[in-house]
Amino acid sequence: MQAHQADELATAERLYREVLDLRVAQPDALHYLGVLCHQDGRSDEGVALIRTALRITPRHPDAHNNLGNIHKECGRLREAEACYRRALECDPRHHNALSNLAVVLEAQQRPLEAFAVFEKLLEAAPRFAQGYYLLGLFLRNNAQGVEHVEQSVGCFRQAYALEPRFVQALEALSVSLYTLDRQDEAAQVYRDWLEREPDNPVPRHMLAACGGAAAPVRADDDYVRDTFDSFAESFDEQLLKNLDYRAPEVLAAALAAVLPAPAASLDILDAGCGTGLCAPLLRPHARRLVGVDLSGGMVKKARLRGGYDALEVAELTAYLQQHRQAWDVVLSADTLVYFGELGPVAAAAHAALRPGGWLAFSLEAEEGDDDRATLSSSGRYCHTRRHALHALGQAGFGDIRIAGDSLRKECGQPVRSWVVMARREA
Ligand SMILES: C[S@@+](CC[C@H](N)C(=O)[O-])C[C@H]1O[C@@H](n2cnc3c(N)ncnc32)[C@H](O)[C@@H]1O
Repeated sequence: MQAHQADELATAERLYREVLDLRVAQPDALHYLGVLCHQDGRSDEGVALIRTALRITPRHPDAHNNLGNIHKECGRLREAEACYRRALECDPRHHNALSNLAVVLEAQQRPLEAFAVFEKLLEAAPRFAQGYYLLGLFLRNNAQGVEHVEQSVGCFRQAYALEPRFVQALEALSVSLYTLDRQDEAAQVYRDWLEREPDNPVPRHMLAACGGAAAPVRADDDYVRDTFDSFAESFDEQLLKNLDYRAPEVLAAALAAVLPAPAASLDILDAGCGTGLCAPLLRPHARRLVGVDLSGGMVKKARLRGGYDALEVAELTAYLQQHRQAWDVVLSADTLVYFGELGPVAAAAHAALRPGGWLAFSLEAEEGDDDRATLSSSGRYCHTRRHALHALGQAGFGDIRIAGDSLRKECGQPVRSWVVMARREA
């Protein structure tokens, strides 16, 4: 278990299997080996092992809870819900099962039931910082009015007061304050945090995002790495909550409309591949499919998901510059939102495409007719249509198509987005 906790999966697996050689039905070894198999991308094997453990010790709340987590992370929300409920039959005050149950109820768009579970959780565990944090996110995501965003402020403050190392609570607090138009308070949260951790790229970037410092031309590499390395574990789950995250599907459909019928004939780069959600959509077109991302944590997840011929940990603009005329398609879903000025990355993408190749990407939309990119309180940039047009035109692209859409939700509201396609002239 120590090896497992230290993320030494190969060692831990060998040791669990040694235990099982000695005692074939040792339930903890079966249970934890099941968790490990899932972490290692073998979710079906993980489910089977934990089910075996539960046949031996049916009233084991942690095992039911962990089985629920595997179902949740595989998108099987109903099965996950059933497992958390079984965990709670064994231990009605199981904090993790309660908070997980609330999360899957919310993901199934059953907010009233989710709220009732959050209430039960905080009654059972009034000092559980994570519970306040999750309730704060829930209130903000499902806000019916300003009072819910105000209540989320209280939750994030409480989470941080209970657990001063819980810095995600600070970030969430600041986003809520910003949403409430309390920019000065939002900036102050980051100033205080920076005072304690002057080298931390997250408060540095986010202070700029809420107007307390000058915005960089794109998010710093350190900020992207830190943010997504710590987000990697829960990224897919967060997207489950933002049920309307559609950038991969919408971009894949836009590409399918201009590409020949899928014939595994193209060299495709998934630029900012994250956990690899685009891979299965691009695979039918790809002779070679490569994913690149700055975050090693996200790339690790993409590797487990599979579907790529190669995955690289690298900064996108530099990577494109080093691969001239290498690709028939470059796709970038929800990644250029971390770039303010699009000129350099557009020029690098143009050079990296073969003549006739397509660039497809999504942006968050800034309204207005001028040429502008703005760093918003979320830490991402919004771009005007003219900015995208200008950057792509300057880079040499022709056949530029920009369509308005909504590719995900934030604070319960659809986020206006651009779906952009541009072709390097043949
Ligand atoms: C919101 S995620 C989207 C991931 C994936 N494309 C998807 O649709 O699920 C944005 C990704 O962009 C990556 N990213 C941001 N800036 C980058 C850069 N300059 N170079 C490489 N990757 C970057 C982040 O690490 C993160 O994985």
